[in-house]
Amino acid sequence: MSPGDLQQALSWLPTDKAEELLVGFETSDDAAVYKLDDTRALLQTVDFFPPIVDSAYMFGQIVAANALSDIYAMGGTPLTALNLAAFPCSLGLDLLGEILLGGSDKVKESGAVIVGGHTIQDNEPKYGLSVTGIVDLDKVITNSNAKPGDALVLTKPLGMGILATALKRGIVSEDDIMPAIEAAATLNKAAAEAMIEVGVNACTDITGFGLLGHMHEMVNGSGVKATITIKSIPIWERAIDLAKKGVIPGGARGNRTFLGDAVVLTASGSIPPEILFDPQTSGGLLISVSQEKSKQLLDALKSHGVATRAVIGRIEEGTAGLIEVI
Ligand code: CO
Ligand code: CO
Ligand code: CO
Repeated sequence: MSPGDLQQALSWLPTDKAEELLVGFETSDDAAVYKLDDTRALLQTVDFFPPIVDSAYMFGQIVAANALSDIYAMGGTPLTALNLAAFPCSLGLDLLGEILLGGSDKVKESGAVIVGGHTIQDNEPKYGLSVTGIVDLDKVITNSNAKPGDALVLTKPLGMGILATALKRGIVSEDDIMPAIEAAATLNKAAAEAMIEVGVNACTDITGFGLLGHMHEMVNGSGVKATITIKSIPIWERAIDLAKKGVIPGGARGNRTFLGDAVVLTASGSIPPEILFDPQTSGGLLISVSQEKSKQLLDALKSHGVATRAVIGRIEEGTAGLIEVI
C-alpha cells in the first residue's frame, strides 16, 4: 500500500496510547517498542507479501530476512516468530513446504525460533512473519533521532523492486539477478551488530517506501533535513539499465507522488531518479551516525562482513523532512 493510502487508513485509529508503549505507529518506525520493566522492552513487527522471485525456498528466505530486519533496525535481538501464509492448495503443498522451509532456515540463522503460525486458502500466495524481539531500554535505536552533522550510511544496494518487476515481466531470469536476490535473503544482523557496537543516532531499514520514503520518515521524525549525493548511492547495475528502459514498479511512482515537494532533485546525470523511490524488499539499513563515529562504523561493518557500506549523504539543520538529492 502507498504511504498516502496507509496514512489515510491509520487516521481512523485513536491516537491515545498505553504508557508502556514507547514507540507506536505515529513515527512510522520499524517495530513497536513496549516497555516490559525498568531495563527492557519488547519489539514487535509483522510483514507479508506475494512472491517476488520464482524459487519458493528463496522467497521464504527473503520474506523472513525482511521481517526480522525491523527488529535489527531497532537495535534489538529477535526471539520468536509466527508464520502467516495464504496459499492456493491447487499449486501443490510441496511449494508451500519449500517456502516455509526457507523461512525456517532464515529464522534459525537469526538465532530466533518459529513458535507457530496460521495459514489460509487464497488465490494468490502470500507469506510473512510476525517477529517478537527484545532490546535494552537504553539501546533502542529509533528512526527519529538523527542529528545535524550525521553521516548517512546504507548497507545494501538499491534496485530490487525494479529487478523483481523485470523478473515478473520475463525480461530477466532469476540467474541474471542472483546477486540481488542473495542480498535480499541476507540478514541485516551483521550490519545491526556493527552499529550497536559503535553506537549510532538513528536507523531504519529500506523496504516498501523506497530509500527516499524511509529517509523522509527519518528526517521528518527527527526534525532535520538530509542532503544526499546520487553518485554515492549503491545501485544494482542491471536495475539502472532496466530503469532507463522504463521498467519502473507502480510502487515507485506512488512513493514519488506521496513525497512531492519533500524531495528536491537537483541531480542530473545517468542515474534515473525513480530508483531512489523504488520499493525494496529486505533492503539494507539506513544508519544515521555522528561524523566522529562514521569511520568507526564503516570499519565495524567491514569486520562484520557487510558487503555494502556506503556513505550517501549527511543530516543538516533545516526544514524537517526535506531531502535534497545532488
Ligand atoms: Co522497517
Ligand atoms: Co515492516
Ligand atoms: Co529503527
